[in-house]
Amino acid sequence: MKTSQLTGADPAQVVREGLVSRPKQLPPWLFYDAEGSRLFEQITALPEYYLTRAESEILTSHGTQVVRAALEGAHNPPLFSLMELGAGTATKSQILLQAAITQMRPWGGRCCFVPVDISETVLDAARVRLHKALPALIVRPIVGDHAAACAALGTLPPPRLVLFLGSYMGNFDDAANIALFGAVRLALDPGDTFVVGADRQNPVDEILAAYDDKAGVTAAFNRNILVRINRELGGQFDPSSFAHVARWNAAESRVEMHLASIRQQRVRIRALGITVAFARGETIHTESSVKYTDDRVEAILSAA
Ligand code: TRP
Repeated sequence: MKTSQLTGADPAQVVREGLVSRPKQLPPWLFYDAEGSRLFEQITALPEYYLTRAESEILTSHGTQVVRAALEGAHNPPLFSLMELGAGTATKSQILLQAAITQMRPWGGRCCFVPVDISETVLDAARVRLHKALPALIVRPIVGDHAAACAALGTLPPPRLVLFLGSYMGNFDDAANIALFGAVRLALDPGDTFVVGADRQNPVDEILAAYDDKAGVTAAFNRNILVRINRELGGQFDPSSFAHVARWNAAESRVEMHLASIRQQRVRIRALGITVAFARGETIHTESSVKYTDDRVEAILSAA
């Protein structure tokens, strides 16, 4: 996997590389400081953002079956481990955890939940909420990236269920997903389960609305990357001089998020000792979200 897509990388280094490269780009994990994670939680509740609702509906109607399948191979296991990559506040995992606790109650089995996220604030919120809602649950959050998750995975008591939801895979290219899924597979044993959520090629106007909502939450989320650079690296971005742009890239079957400079300008970033020049309309590419066919998901899974 490209290290620029992960948290292990040094922000100063990746911001410098991204802003001197052409076209300009920034790695999406930079979005998720405390404020970015809070804005992202708001995105998931927007009327236009259909992904979270669709996935929650699928988990609500099929969660019992998913958990049954995950427990099936092991005979009345004393423990069951569920890990979610990019868990956020883990509201979707909660649906499956509730199902697992119910199914294991007859033999007194216990459930261990390992939410993984790069934002400590959202993990704290998840832990507090889950502790109240499901007191019998063991919660062991990991603040870290996918490599940290894969390292911990093999040490969890089997059977294991790994969740990669929210079309989070769509934010990586196919090669990165093949590498990640391969690493997950290596850490799992036969009988363990991997559940992946992928968004489809829905109508383009619906997709664009989901990434450019009326209330402007996604725009604020996108600009927050500039606010973060200002705070952490002494950047002198005027965030209001950058427009949020969501664009459909048909050739790659993905929606792209950009920040477009609304005027010609030069921006100094003190900690990096650089001044970045922007032409009017020039963009920084901050995120892509691939929309899949079943075949493309199948191909990634079989390659991994
Ligand atoms: N995994 C989410 C998706 O692809 C991430 C996301 C949703 C996102 N909305 C966004 C990322 C807006 C950046 C900007 O749907």
